[in-house]
Amino acid sequence: MYSEKVMDHFQNPRNVGEMENPSGVGTVGNAKCGDIMRMFLDIDENGIIQEAKFKTFGCGAAVATSSMATELVKGKTIQEALEVTNKAVMEALDGLPPVKVHCSLLAEEAIHAALWDYAEKNGITIEGLQKPVSDISEHEEEEEY
Ligand code: FES
Repeated sequence: MYSEKVMDHFQNPRNVGEMENPSGVGTVGNAKCGDIMRMFLDIDENGIIQEAKFKTFGCGAAVATSSMATELVKGKTIQEALEVTNKAVMEALDGLPPVKVHCSLLAEEAIHAALWDYAEKNGITIEGLQKPVSDISEHEEEEEY
């Protein structure tokens, strides 16, 4: 039921860990399943994401999507990182079972939360970035998959 890529990123997740003095850090959770994701980003003075790390108390699909999401945002500009949506992450993983789609939202929202923190710390506005929710199950109800 899981693609090989999902299994690979679940069993050998990339970029797991924490970061000292991150440029931005964000934590989001899903109250329905109780899973939590924390994302750390290191962004250089040119606005390029040099490093991304994550820690999760979450299911296998959350681990795999976060692993892939961190790989995808590394080396990207902030604007490019905003295009790393949960759909893009799922595509990169060759898909997820429908009941696990919400897990990929945790990764996307954690990146947004970390970018939001970065913007706040630096007094800037990131075009196209909306204030992240801390509980993704709130906006899950509005979206149909
Ligand atoms: Fe909660 Fe996957 S079941 S994030």
